Amino acid sequence: MGDKVAIRFQPQRAEIAVERGQTVLEAARIGKVGLTHKCGGHGTCGTCKIQIESKTPLESPTKVELRHLSDSRLEIGFRLACQCKLTGPATVMIPEDPLRRVVRELLDAQRQERQLSVLEFEGQPFEAADTRD
Ligand code: FES
Repeated sequence: MGDKVAIRFQPQRAEIAVERGQTVLEAARIGKVGLTHKCGGHGTCGTCKIQIESKTPLESPTKVELRHLSDSRLEIGFRLACQCKLTGPATVMIPEDPLRRVVRELLDAQRQERQLSVLEFEGQPFEAADTRD
C-alpha cells in the first residue's frame, strides 16, 4: 500500500485520503467531488482548472498546463486537475461554474429582498387579532 495524502476540496468541504502522486482529477473522482473535465483528463479541453494550495512543493506545471494557463494564474496556484499530481496534503478550490454563480447570486439577491420586505412589514403598525374569549 502506498503513501496517502489528505486532500480537502472546497467549497464542497470534502476531505479524502489518496495515494501520493495521483492527480487532483483522480482524487476528485475517488471522493465523488464534482469537477468539470470535458476531455476526460486528456489535457485538451482546459475545463478542469482548479486552484491548489499545497503544503509541499508541487511538480512544475506540465507543457499542457503551460498551454492552458497564463503565468499570472499559475503564480496564484491555478493548475489543471488532470495534470497536477498530489505531492502532499493540499486544499483544492474548485472554481464555481459561471452560470451557476449567476443563478446563485440572483437567488441570494431575491432572498435578501424578501428579508427586507419582511422587515419593512414588521416596521408597520400591526394590530394583532384578539383571540381571547
Ligand atoms: S480534463 Fe480536459 S484538460 Fe483536464
